[in-house]
Amino acid sequence: MIAIFDSGFGGLTVLKPIIDELPDYDYLYLGDNARAPYGNHSPETIKRYCEEAVEYLFENGATLIIFACNTASSIALRHIQQKYLNGTDERDRKILGVLIPVSQEVAKNKESKRIGLIGTRATVSTSAYDDEIKKINPGLTLHKIECPLLVPLIEEDWHKKPEAVMILKKYLRPLKNANIDSLILGCTHYPLMYESISKKMGRNVKVLDSGKITAKSLKDYLSRHPEIESKLSKNSSRTYLTTDLPDKMKEFIKKNFDLKVDKVKKIELKRKN
Ligand code: DGL
Repeated sequence: MIAIFDSGFGGLTVLKPIIDELPDYDYLYLGDNARAPYGNHSPETIKRYCEEAVEYLFENGATLIIFACNTASSIALRHIQQKYLNGTDERDRKILGVLIPVSQEVAKNKESKRIGLIGTRATVSTSAYDDEIKKINPGLTLHKIECPLLVPLIEEDWHKKPEAVMILKKYLRPLKNANIDSLILGCTHYPLMYESISKKMGRNVKVLDSGKITAKSLKDYLSRHPEIESKLSKNSSRTYLTTDLPDKMKEFIKKNFDLKVDKVKKIELKRKN
């Protein structure tokens, strides 16, 4: 089974394009809503939360886990891969993130010179995106802005309100002044404000949505790795799990995504010390 992991609702912006690209597989979505947002926590806490989620997902049938969360991908992915994949057979389990596909997409585009990135405080504090982008093209410059108020506004379904658009405008101003040509939406939630973001940035800025890029990259990955692909079940089932209020997740999905959702189950993650 393919598991999509996020701190909360945001990863649904990654799940949706993945399902659109690869509808036949079985999906397990886990949102750790009880502890979201991750973006304001310390790296140690984020790593522990990710360990607890990964252990749950592997114990409950996942073969391939996608870290949809940019914060988790930036802070914890390497640590998690070392801890849970080292010494195991590559064909048995795999964990992938959103950061590499997005960095590759932007850095390989010959027209990108000045790149902007918006994300949570935790994502912006690391050099994870910078490192991946510069590995491919060391000449690129990356302008990063943390936007901590956007996630709570989106979770509250306030993202279309003028107050949210005003805050967004303030966050984007330095990027407009930096004359960027590409903007990475380095947070799962921001595609829900895609229209306002592209409108504010103007026609000359290419806005990159990590969900769509990850979906294409996953499709390509599975075509190149039949040893993993053949292990994934294909009954088009979708299971939604949350560590908090199932009805809230169900409502959020119904309101924002064209996804069929019969049931959301509440789960507890085993606490690690
Ligand atoms: N999912 C997170 C991300 O993509 C945003 C929400 C959070 O801070 O947990 O960075």
